[in-house]
Amino acid sequence: MDDYLWWRDGIIYQIYPRSFADSNGDGLGDLPGITARLDYLAELGIDAIWLSPFYPTPDADFGYDVSDHTAVDPRFGTLEDFDRLAAESHRRGIRVVLDLVLNHTSDRHPWFRESRASRDNPKRDWYIWQPPSRSPRGGPNNWQAAFGGPAWDYDETTGQYYLHMFLAEQPDVNWRNPEVRKAQLDVVRFWLARGADGFRLDVFNAYFKDAQFRNNPPKFGLRGFDRQRHLYDCDQPEMIPLLNELRTILDAYPERYAVGETFFATPEKVLHYSGPDRLHAAFSFDFNSSGLRYPWNPAWLLKQIQRREALFTGEHWPTTVLSNHDISRTATRYTHGEQDALAKIAMALLLTLRGTPFLYYGEEIGMRDVPLRRGEIMDPPGKRYWPIFKGRDGCRSPMQWDDTPFAGFSLSKVQGRPWLPVHPNYHQRNVAAQNEDPDSLLNFTRKLIALRKECPALRRGEFVPLTTRPRDALVYLRRTDDQTVLVALNFANKTIRAACTPPLPEDWQLLFSTSGADLPHVNGKNIELAPYEVCILEVKTGR
Ligand code: GLC
Repeated sequence: MDDYLWWRDGIIYQIYPRSFADSNGDGLGDLPGITARLDYLAELGIDAIWLSPFYPTPDADFGYDVSDHTAVDPRFGTLEDFDRLAAESHRRGIRVVLDLVLNHTSDRHPWFRESRASRDNPKRDWYIWQPPSRSPRGGPNNWQAAFGGPAWDYDETTGQYYLHMFLAEQPDVNWRNPEVRKAQLDVVRFWLARGADGFRLDVFNAYFKDAQFRNNPPKFGLRGFDRQRHLYDCDQPEMIPLLNELRTILDAYPERYAVGETFFATPEKVLHYSGPDRLHAAFSFDFNSSGLRYPWNPAWLLKQIQRREALFTGEHWPTTVLSNHDISRTATRYTHGEQDALAKIAMALLLTLRGTPFLYYGEEIGMRDVPLRRGEIMDPPGKRYWPIFKGRDGCRSPMQWDDTPFAGFSLSKVQGRPWLPVHPNYHQRNVAAQNEDPDSLLNFTRKLIALRKECPALRRGEFVPLTTRPRDALVYLRRTDDQTVLVALNFANKTIRAACTPPLPEDWQLLFSTSGADLPHVNGKNIELAPYEVCILEVKTGR
């Protein structure tokens, strides 16, 4: 168990750079801002940071439309700032994971400018061009864009359609072209040589599309994109040899890592795409799979956990994600008002399940989505679908560091207005205030991260549920050959007795509890839990 491997045993903290810390007061977070806050992250106890894109971008999709993959957008800093950030992170034992957006580029990328210039441009085939069809709608086939409308846009200059699975400003590259493949893998090599420890691959399983551009079959759904089965616009067999090649590149360096953002994620797909010659891991989003409203009860959670436990054995390692830059924040989804009791339950789940926890910036202080008026919405799908879908800006608001103006977002004397409003709760909810409060979510998170580090069973142990039909509580063991840890989470605002099968062992030691009691009430078949209690024990008589 002392074979601690950072991406498997550690915790990866996602930073949305424009919202984390602003070093120069222009209202936009930047790389030097992150460097200045590394001590905070080291003290939190995380093992790696994943940086959402900081490359040059016209911001059609806030960085996920890249116009140069091997540079830093001047608003976020310089390549030297990146070097400093990587060196300072490494000095603190923190790895650096970059977000690579290789399915598409910005339409302002020099490759696309060339590609669209003429049909015989040498870069024409670097993107996916098709002639109009004879169907009345004109597009080459029925594919839809994830952000609304058809996936094809007509280009007047050359009289053909180009493909974009997201915005029209994000044309998809043609991975079947060997020059594209080389250029994209060179991006990987560039950042590896520059000190990146790993990559998060944006919508990787959409890289290849059906060579014959067949129509997707219909299915029931609300928006055009959801009314199709995505058989032909993603998950093509060509992906596997590409992942093999990528893995060989990564394995030339020690302990490098790649995690894929799976498009239409399922645990089964993750199994297919990860393994010793493929990605190290991929997201299956087991706890936030169906849009913005999720059942949040122990029975549903246990079902999700058991589904993945049955699949992720041997060489496959799961990831646990509750929040990211695309979905409503954990605390907004699962709690009411400013109470953090349920946010602690969510955090405990994230940090005690088997799998790599991904912690989204601000999740550790229970940041909520910032409420925005229609005129404040920046995110394109939010603008398009308001009020049915209000976009993803809510979960991207500036990090709340303290109660000074704009929550201490700017580290300089000049205090530019942040690019998105700060949540008004920042006067109470901020890092400085939670530092002082021993019962804060922040201190709770720190303690649990430390406990996870100390307990091999919490990192690597098998998952054994003790509540088979949970109503109010989840009780489970995490166990290795040498250690057994029991985790009990009471989701209810009342004292409960959770019945456990098999009966609980007799000899145990309290590791952690939010109830304030020195001893939890364990008696054979039951464990008594205070309202919203998180209780963690080490069982001495193990197996
Ligand atoms: C991924 C990103 C999302 C982005 C999209 C297009 O889903 O997480 O933020 O909008 O890809 O690049």
